[in-house]
Amino acid sequence: MEVVILENEDAVAELGAQRIFELVKKKPNAVLGLATGSTPIAMYKKIISFYESKVVSFGDIVTFNLDEYIGITADNSQSYRYFMNRELFDAIDIEQQNTHLPVCGAGENPREIGAAYEQSIVDAGGIDLQILGIGSNGHIGFNEPGCSLSSRTRVKTLTQSTVRDNNHLFGPNECQPHLAMTMGIATILDSRRTILLATGSQKAAAVRHAIEGSISSGCPATALQMHERVTFILDEAAASSLENKSYYRWAHHQNRSLVEQFGNFHEVVEPDSY
Ligand code: F6R
Repeated sequence: MEVVILENEDAVAELGAQRIFELVKKKPNAVLGLATGSTPIAMYKKIISFYESKVVSFGDIVTFNLDEYIGITADNSQSYRYFMNRELFDAIDIEQQNTHLPVCGAGENPREIGAAYEQSIVDAGGIDLQILGIGSNGHIGFNEPGCSLSSRTRVKTLTQSTVRDNNHLFGPNECQPHLAMTMGIATILDSRRTILLATGSQKAAAVRHAIEGSISSGCPATALQMHERVTFILDEAAASSLENKSYYRWAHHQNRSLVEQFGNFHEVVEPDSY
């Protein structure tokens, strides 16, 4: 587990984008797992800058998003499809047909949709790099506290706290969905590498639990402790409750000298992921 603590949100976005950039350069047909929410927006802006400076193309990149609300359509500005198009896809050269979200339309069976989504991830060769945010209740994707740590893509009922956290994003006349399709914890753990981004003091308790707490469905993000290649990229505020902060800083410093000596063993692309 790699824990990187950076001075502010901008530095978090920069490092997240840098890791994606390294992957796309080395593996132009990589499979990315993407997240919505306020946290990755700054990172997506940086990715767009990389693209605009013509150093990287997303022409062969395939993406799978973590989740999508049930009950709203892609043209609804609250849908995660709309969010991804607005914040990233429309600004880069990615092919729309290569971008996937677990959409369960009216009259469709969420079980079938979930199984098909899992299969399309497998058919694409598996996720090389999964980007995550974290809910203040410790959720990743919409895997809410109490979820199965072996779960796969399925429908989940959002907790009251998640509905409350996201309420400010909905206008007074907009209907806020309480159901979503989400990749499962096992789906996330199958990714070859995972990066969790967290910024702001409202995430400090969840981040501490995720990194230093016992593995439990009470905080689904603790499951990441079982991922072989997970990196937490945090700003000072999100890292503020960590007990072993000085160790993480020291280890990060050591890692930098190891990289100078032995090359970048933190590279996102592992030889076995080709
Ligand atoms: C979004 C997602 C969620 C968010 C989490 C944090 O696709 O899967 O787990 O990452 O709710 O949201 P923000 O970044 O808005 O605090």
